Amino acid sequence: MSTRTPLIYTPKILDLFRNPKNLGKMEDATVSSQAGSPACGDVITIYLKIEDSRIIDASFESYGCAANIAAASIITEMVKGKTLKEAWDITWEDVTNELGGLPSIKYHCSILAVGGLKRAIRKYFQEIVKMHPDWLPKDLSKEERQALEEEELIERIYRKYGVVP
Ligand code: FES
Repeated sequence: MSTRTPLIYTPKILDLFRNPKNLGKMEDATVSSQAGSPACGDVITIYLKIEDSRIIDASFESYGCAANIAAASIITEMVKGKTLKEAWDITWEDVTNELGGLPSIKYHCSILAVGGLKRAIRKYFQEIVKMHPDWLPKDLSKEERQALEEEELIERIYRKYGVVP
């Protein structure tokens, strides 16, 4: 018998895990972005459809845990109808609150989801419209930075043990 203590998830997380909203690849997305490392299995892809600087649709794919799926799902709900600036202002703490809380060991799941969202918004400006709005910081947000650090850490571990991710 396992001696591990089960994590306590909120009813909202369990519901979104069982019935995720906006799950699946968006074929006509304006932009998409990934966060996480396929090597460890925690990967999220965010798809955004953008018109006139407003997100008119959003979807996601996730290869993470229940908390990651719930965080990604709720983000796609939170950003729909928002301007890019409003969506950019969403933090991992906002997502965690929307989920009714997360076990602290699972904070990284909502950080990864918000990191994916912010990367998508940054990519949209850098690669698609090729302009930099005043409100978009040049430096990475804390969620983008954390996602990057996790990806680099996993790569280092895999390199150290001779496994190619
Ligand atoms: Fe890594 Fe949830 S996404 S534990």
